[in-house]
Amino acid sequence: MDNLTKVLQDFQINGYAIIEDFLSNKEVETLKSECKTLIDKGLDLREDQTIFTTGDSQQTNDYFMNSGDKIRYFYESHAFNDRGELVVDKYSCLNKIGHALHWMSQPFKEITFSDKVKQLVKQIGFVEPVVVQSMYIFKNPGIGGEVMPHQDATYLHAIPDPKVIGLWFALEDATTENGCLEFIPGSHHEGLHTQWIRTTDQNGSTVMKLTKECNQFKDRQFVSAPVKKGSAVVINGFVIHKSAINRSTNPRPIYTFHIFEQKDRVWDSFNWLQPTHDMPFPSLYKN
Ligand code: FE2
Repeated sequence: MDNLTKVLQDFQINGYAIIEDFLSNKEVETLKSECKTLIDKGLDLREDQTIFTTGDSQQTNDYFMNSGDKIRYFYESHAFNDRGELVVDKYSCLNKIGHALHWMSQPFKEITFSDKVKQLVKQIGFVEPVVVQSMYIFKNPGIGGEVMPHQDATYLHAIPDPKVIGLWFALEDATTENGCLEFIPGSHHEGLHTQWIRTTDQNGSTVMKLTKECNQFKDRQFVSAPVKKGSAVVINGFVIHKSAINRSTNPRPIYTFHIFEQKDRVWDSFNWLQPTHDMPFPSLYKN
């Protein structure tokens, strides 16, 4: 069985697949260096200190909700002390940068719209894929937060069904100590358990809510997916996955973006993330 056949088979059976050496060392270093440039040039430590977590508190502020077509910076909750002061430096305090790196940053754009990505997505069977969002996730030692069990399609829904995949690139080795991905293999066959929808509370303010709590994910058996630097992980939008906190002394940076099959589907207007006039979701194959 050749490599690609194995990848497609793993993806179909388990809902995820690992491709080693997808990015060259040079590509990995270029993305990390661009991230440093974005921090040096774009991060204002005095403003917009929006914390990103995947626990009970859900992001609904304007800084987050309007980040779909921008490069914005989200902090780790443990980057601050009780008085709200930063306790780590600017390179260590962030949870992630999102959500339009794939369009606003040339190095990230080049990887996202590279021929090898297009080939892979074609092989998976996407006909009219668009890129909906992208993130650089830091998971720094000591403060890199846990990602709770979830399905990506919970946040990226479509009608009649959310055909979505995530591509996830390890920019350092991702290990069981520093918080690699963990999956419930085959769980993509279960369909979508819950949806995160935009709604209004009693005061008329916009809030995001899960249509159903899914605490039972926590009790289920996950399989760790440690990968080497440069590896890609292809993730079905329905497969349940999570990642632990970083217990090591090494960072676990990754670049990830999500692709939506637009053919025969309509993006859900209840999603937090919406295409904008300035930036409609870009076609993967035409860019
Ligand atoms: Fe995810």
